[in-house]
Amino acid sequence: MNAGHQHQTKLALVTGGNKGIGFAICRGLLQAEFEVILAARSLDKAKQAIDQLQSTQVHPLVLDVADDHSIHDAVAEVQRNFNQIDILINNAGIYPDEGVNILTIDRDLLDRTINTNAFGPIRTAQAFLPLLEEAPTSRIINVSSGYGALDGLSASVPSYCLSKLALNGATIMLAEALQSKGIAVYAMCPGWVRTDMGGAGATRSPAQGADTAIWLATEASPKLSGKFFRDRQEISY
Ligand SMILES: NC(=O)c1ccc[n+]([C@@H]2O[C@H](COP(=O)([O-])OP(=O)(O)OC[C@H]3O[C@@H](n4cnc5c(N)ncnc54)[C@H](OP(=O)(O)O)[C@@H]3O)[C@@H](O)[C@H]2O)c1
Repeated sequence: MNAGHQHQTKLALVTGGNKGIGFAICRGLLQAEFEVILAARSLDKAKQAIDQLQSTQVHPLVLDVADDHSIHDAVAEVQRNFNQIDILINNAGIYPDEGVNILTIDRDLLDRTINTNAFGPIRTAQAFLPLLEEAPTSRIINVSSGYGALDGLSASVPSYCLSKLALNGATIMLAEALQSKGIAVYAMCPGWVRTDMGGAGATRSPAQGADTAIWLATEASPKLSGKFFRDRQEISY
């Protein structure tokens, strides 16, 4: 980021922006003429991803959403360079439920997944709130999953389902808490997407998975704050 940078266009921050759906969201937001902060767990990962985007409008940021020190440092870094953030996209997530189910999963794995996928977005939203409040209208978009819907819960995907169920709950609560500030908060499911997480057999491209997040960032009504979406349509929690 350039010190003292003054931005004219809207600024979006995407967590886990270095690959998969997050990377496709960054690309789509650049195409929609946003300026983008591409956050990754390491500067190398962020810079390597940015190299592929061939844009001067994208900036690297180190952010591990499971680590409050990292979140704190990331906010300070953004505040050195920007006055406000218009869009926060909580995309970073893990899917570590291999060979476990709700009867066998241990506490460490439950902790790790819920800490990253649910508490990460909550703490990130809290920390970036002062920057979001500086924008005339701002939005928070939580990349959730149909696995977090009440009719999508699966006993063989225990920590991931619980983490996205909690993220959906956090979306409802954040929307309520931020309504008076005019900040809209949405949850969305990208569908089954060909990424390292989704695997090569998934039905959707990363761009298709990113579409609803970009729509929520650009076109969706703020009146839909607190709702859950797939394919630009509201779905049931
Ligand atoms: N793919 C699907 O079919 C699908 C379906 C429903 C929902 N989703 C959701 O979509 C989002 C993106 O998934 P994806 O398919 O693009 O997965 P992915 O290819 O595995 O990418 C996940 C991203 O999250 C980052 N990340 C993981 N833990 C992090 C942490 N503690 N702090 C910061 N970044 C972290 C990863 O960084 P590293 O590169 O450092 O690991 C990577 O950038 C996730 O929230 C996922 O749950 C995906």
